[in-house]
Amino acid sequence: MMSLRFFLLLLFQFSVSGILAINNEDPTAKTMEDFSGYPLHESTDYPSAPPNSLVSFLRVDTTTLQNQIDELSTFSDTPAPSVTRILYTEKDVLARRYIKNLMGLSGLSVREDAVGNIFGRWDGYESDLVPVATGSHIDAIPYSGKYDGVVGVLGAIEAINVLKRSGFKPKRSLEVVLFTSEEPTRFGISCLGSRLLAGSEALAEALKTTVDGQNISFLEAARSAGYAKEHDDISSVFLKEGSYSAFVELHIEQGPILEAEGLSIGIVTAIAAPASLKVDFEGNGGHAGAVLMPNRNDAGLAAAELALAVEKHVLGSGSIDTVGTVGILELHPGAINSIPSKSHVEIDTRDIDEKRRNDVIEKIHQSATKIASKRGVRLSEFKIVNQDPPALSDNSVIEAMEAASKELNLTHKLMISRAYHDSLFMARVSPMGMLFIPCYKGYSHKPEEYASSHDMGNGVKVLAMTLAKLSLN
Ligand SMILES: *[C@@H]1O[C@H](CO)[C@@H](O)[C@H](O)[C@H]1NC(C)=O
Ligand SMILES: *[C@@H]1O[C@H](CO)[C@@H](O)[C@H](O)[C@H]1NC(C)=O
Ligand SMILES: [Zn+2]
Repeated sequence: MMSLRFFLLLLFQFSVSGILAINNEDPTAKTMEDFSGYPLHESTDYPSAPPNSLVSFLRVDTTTLQNQIDELSTFSDTPAPSVTRILYTEKDVLARRYIKNLMGLSGLSVREDAVGNIFGRWDGYESDLVPVATGSHIDAIPYSGKYDGVVGVLGAIEAINVLKRSGFKPKRSLEVVLFTSEEPTRFGISCLGSRLLAGSEALAEALKTTVDGQNISFLEAARSAGYAKEHDDISSVFLKEGSYSAFVELHIEQGPILEAEGLSIGIVTAIAAPASLKVDFEGNGGHAGAVLMPNRNDAGLAAAELALAVEKHVLGSGSIDTVGTVGILELHPGAINSIPSKSHVEIDTRDIDEKRRNDVIEKIHQSATKIASKRGVRLSEFKIVNQDPPALSDNSVIEAMEAASKELNLTHKLMISRAYHDSLFMARVSPMGMLFIPCYKGYSHKPEEYASSHDMGNGVKVLAMTLAKLSLN
């Protein structure tokens, strides 16, 4: 069957190359035609032109990809099946070495920046054109799974391998990026690497004094992992505007939609805008028996009331896309017979509409003020930790992802990413797009996280096709 197809293909090429031999000036067009599955003629203009290749000859080595995912998951500080890989720890450094090694084996030239964003480049034949990039992260929050982020790094390297095996040659260079610390576990900052790539001056400044829970400074930790060696200023990480012509991230959906609808590919059109808040209330505390109810100013109840207010304002936005969560609520001193004298609340709220989300934040602020005055406690802090705008995928990238899915006959739908990703920040410096693949029950950030080899294979194929198209743009 295979050999028959090959034979027919060769026969076809042979006959059309004869016909079209006279019209043979544009090597770019040729590569595009080849890769779209319509081989027209042999190139003579460009010496390392690929052999003609068809969509159906893209082969993903899903066994090797799965083995690599399993192997990477062993660089963990907690036992399998959980994965814990925290920024700049020994396991993180080993995992990075593993990725750099694979990049090298795929023939990519590898470099790292001052915070350990890792770049593996496959040079295109027009090396002065701005490259196309793809990538994700490999850090993992405590007791999480082995697919979040990892599919978009190992899958990207495999996408490069797929293209190489198919004989494709990129016009624009293709670059695989491993982003440093997408998860906020160690320093409380999510998407640290991509925020810096996107040029966050505020973050570069803050990192000079940022410490982790053990009072280890960011710079000290980075140096122990071999980064930030030169000086304390890490603004060298900032990408220049126009460093990439496009950026695509492959990721597990981390939601249940694709699996439930039996679809292979999600094409992300927008990433919801996240914001996070820290709120502190302070009261007088006191003995749980001795202080009578009318005489109390209970900081704990103020926090409880604020948590309910968050829910009320989020539900009141009128949109299913508005969400809010109080994930942290701490009471001090935290004893059963002591009225809380301090409370600390952390709130996460997101929306695809920035104004609607900001309105919710404003209402939460008003509630916090009212609650404090009603209960006689002090609102000692109301801090907006981050308030990021949403990101829209770029039409050119969406079109490439859709065309790739169609050519590969894969079922797909346009969807919104409610979780945020490094792509949210890459969108500030490059046209951006994201590809989702289904994951078991939408589980993520826990050991049960799972994506099938088949689904990963589909994702890698669509990524490979998308990169090929964007590289020829
Ligand atoms: C953290 O480390 C700094 C510098 O080493 C030191 O001055 C400071 O007291 C430490 N803070 C705590 C809470 O241990
Ligand atoms: C997609 O489906 C069409 C029509 O069924 C078929 O001709 C084509 O070969 C398929 N392509 C791939 C890549 O499977
Ligand atoms: Zn992720």
